[in-house]
Amino acid sequence: MKAVVFTQYGSPEVLQVKQVAKPTPKDNEILLRIKATAVNSGEVRLRKADPFAVRFLFGLTKPKINILGVVFSGEVESIGKDVKTFKIGDEVFGHTDMSFGTYAEYKCMRENGSIALKPAHISHKEAAVIPFGGTTALHFIKKANIKQGQKVLIVGASGAVGTAAIQLAKYFGAVVTGVCSTANIALLKSIGADEVIDYTKEDFSENGKTYDVIFDAVKTIPIFRSLKSLNKKGTLILSAGMAKEMFQGLWISKTTNIKVLSGLIKHNAEDILFLKQLIEDGNLKPIIDRTYTLEQMKEAHTYVEKGHKKGNVAIEI
Ligand SMILES: NC(=O)c1ccc[n+]([C@@H]2O[C@H](COP(=O)([O-])OP(=O)(O)OC[C@H]3O[C@@H](n4cnc5c(N)ncnc54)[C@H](OP(=O)(O)O)[C@@H]3O)[C@@H](O)[C@H]2O)c1
Repeated sequence: MKAVVFTQYGSPEVLQVKQVAKPTPKDNEILLRIKATAVNSGEVRLRKADPFAVRFLFGLTKPKINILGVVFSGEVESIGKDVKTFKIGDEVFGHTDMSFGTYAEYKCMRENGSIALKPAHISHKEAAVIPFGGTTALHFIKKANIKQGQKVLIVGASGAVGTAAIQLAKYFGAVVTGVCSTANIALLKSIGADEVIDYTKEDFSENGKTYDVIFDAVKTIPIFRSLKSLNKKGTLILSAGMAKEMFQGLWISKTTNIKVLSGLIKHNAEDILFLKQLIEDGNLKPIIDRTYTLEQMKEAHTYVEKGHKKGNVAIEI
C-alpha cells in the first residue's frame, strides 16, 4: 500500500511517499480502507520533535512511529474473526490516538477504539477533519462542565480545536466570544460565536470584560493575561499547554479558586458517537481550509506549520 513514511525528525522533506506492507487485522481488529485523513498541529510537532521532550515519548534519536496521522474516514475492508461491532463495507470515521498511521491507504484498528459510523450526509474528508479538534474540545469542555448561560472566551478560535470549541460550547448553552484575526471574523460568526474580538485590533485582557471560562486553544498569550479576564472562580483551559503551563496551572489551582485544565486528552468510541450525533443534528460543522493528496503531504505540512490555518487541512486518499 501507499503511505507517507518518515524515519527521521525534521522539516517536511522527511515525509516520503513509499510502498509499505498492507496490514492484516488481528481477531479483534478491522482493516480500514482510508479515504481521507487530516494534517493536524500535533503531527507537525511530532515530525519536528518540537519540543525536544517529544523524543522521550516517541524515540530519542529517530521516531519509533514511521507513519503519522491520527484521524480517518473510510470503509471497513475486512474484519478479524471476533469483530462484532462493524461489518465489511461500513463507512466509519474516528481517531487512532497514539497508534497513528492514517497517512496511508490502509490501517488496522481495534473494533473498540474511537470509531463510529460516518454521518451519511457528509463526505469522507468532512468526516476526517472532525475527530482531532472535536475530541480535544469535547474533553476540555466536559471537564470544565460548561453550562447554560456561562460566558466563555475562546482564544485561537479559528483553528481546528477552536472551531470545534465554539460549536460545542454553543451546544452546551454558553454565550461564546471568539478571539481571531480580521480575516476569520466571518468564519467565527458563521459557526455561532455570539461575539468576536479581533486580536489585531483589540487586546481582550484590557477591555474590562470577564468570563466564566477561558479556553486558550493555541497558547499564544501568557497565562497572567488570561487571568485578568477570568472570573475569580473561573476555569482556564490550556489545551495547548506544555510542561511549564501545566506546573503554572497546578500552582494557580492550588493557591486560588481558579481551576486550570491542561494535559493530554482522552477519548473513546462514545465521544466519536457524540460528535456524529452533533453533526447529524446540524450542531457541528466540519471546517476545511485546504485539501491535499497523500503525494502533497510536504506541502500540507508546510502550510499547517505556519500556524494560520482556518479550521482544518484535509488529505484525500
Ligand atoms: N491537550 C491535548 O491533548 C491536545 C490535543 C490536540 C491539540 N493540542 C494542541 O492544541 C494546539 C492548537 O491546536 P489547533 O490544531 O487548533 O491549531 P491550529 O489549527 O494550527 O490553529 C491555528 C489558528 O490559531 C490562530 N491564531 C494564531 N495566533 C493567534 C492569536 N494570537 N490569537 C488568536 N488566534 C490565533 C490562527 O489564526 P490567525 O492566523 O488568523 O491568527 C489559526 O486559525 C497545538 O499546540 C496542539 O498541540 C493539544
